[in-house]
Formats: sequence, C-alpha cells, structure tokens
Amino acid sequence: MGNVHVLDHPLIQHKLTHIRDKNTGTKEFRELVDEVAMLMAFEITRNLPLAETKIETPVMETKAHVLAGKKIGLIPILRAGLGMVDGMLKLIPAARVGHVGLYRDPETLQPVEYYIKLPSDISERELIVIDPMLATGGSANDAIHSLKKRGAKQIRLMCLVGAPEGVELIKKEHPDVDIYLAALDDGLDEHAYITPGLGDAGDRLFGTK
Ligand code: PRP
Ligand code: URA
Repeated sequence: MGNVHVLDHPLIQHKLTHIRDKNTGTKEFRELVDEVAMLMAFEITRNLPLAETKIETPVMETKAHVLAGKKIGLIPILRAGLGMVDGMLKLIPAARVGHVGLYRDPETLQPVEYYIKLPSDISERELIVIDPMLATGGSANDAIHSLKKRGAKQIRLMCLVGAPEGVELIKKEHPDVDIYLAALDDGLDEHAYITPGLGDAGDRLFGTK
C-alpha cells in the first residue's frame, strides 16, 4: 500500500504559512513555492542510491560516495505544477522533465487532459508527479493512469497541500504510489477547494483571475 509522508520540517511549515496567507502577492507566492519545492526535493531524495568511488583529498587517498546516477523524471501537472519544477531541479539538475496538461472542469470537477509530452525512457525512470494541490485527487489520479498506460513503473506523487479525499483516491487507485505532502489539510469545501488550503494555486502562481 502506498504510504503518505507529511514533510513537516519547520522551514517547510513556516514557508507554507506564508504561501497560505491570502495577503501574500504573486511574486512572493512564486518564490515561496519554489523554495518549498526545493526543501521537499531534499527530503524525498534521501533514498537515492550511492556508489563508492576513490578520490584523493589534499591529505590522502580515500573512499567516498557519489550518487549512483538513478534516472529521475519530474512530471509537473500543468499549470500549477510548473511552479515547483525549478526548485526541484536546483537539487536534481539531471532530472528530465515531462509535462501532463490537465485542468479540472469547474462544473463536473472531472479532469480534462489536453497535453502530454514525456521523456522517451519513462519506463526506466523513477517519476515524481508534482502538483501543489491534491484536492479530490482526480487530476493526479488521471495523470498517474496516463503515465502507467505509457509504461511508467515507478511513480511518486509530491504535492504541497493534500485533502484526505485526494489521498484516499490515490491510495485506492494506485497503492504502489507513495504520496509526499507539506501538509495534510482538513477537507474540501462545496467547490472542492481544499480547506483551509491556499486558494487556487495556478491563479496565485501566475497572477491570473
Ligand atoms: C488544480 C491543481 C490540481 C487540481 C487539483 O489545477 O493544480 O491540478 O486543481 O484538484 P483535484 O485534485 O480535485 O483534481 P486546475 O485544474 O485549477 O488547473 P491549473 O493548474 O491550470 O490552474
Ligand atoms: N485546485 C486548487 O488550485 N486549489 C484547491 O484548493 C483545489 C484545487
């Protein structure tokens, strides 16, 4: 069964509080999302395999560790997922980036896929699907099904804020997918916005609305 990990490092919590605040403007919102994505990337890369190598320090020869070169793919869900890409690439610069374009129909709340472009070798990569919001879970669920249909074997999901409803859907549909959140919130309102949440992540990131 996929596990849910809440990455509640104090720095993440502090920055998330400012992200949630409705008085935080677009520029600061964008910078904070970028920073939290970087901090979350630090946490979720703990399991990366290492290889041993030999180097010479100015004092002596020694064995040391370097990353074993595991192939990673970041898959932002458009649009809001884009806000987390650069922060993650700061720590994982060699990752390839694929895009899944989905929007949630405001009437039906069902996700509608409008774009997909992925690295050709997704079956060999560990994919990290990224989106600030996991609300009903419909968008992430669709994105993960889409990736699996195209051969993806190893997938993790990373969001800033999740609702229990979204977490349950992903656990049910994708028990092989671990979920990483900066916060697990209370629930959803009548428009399926996360409560307390942070509002519309895409609009706040890109200054639309
Ligand atoms: C938001 C968000 C997620 C989705 C979450 O995207 O970024 O992709 O809603 O809701 P769900 O879990 O109920 O599917 P939105 O559809 O607003 O599109 P945008 O990123 O283009 O703003
Ligand atoms: N999408 C958002 O951007 N925010 C929510 O709270 C739910 C879906």
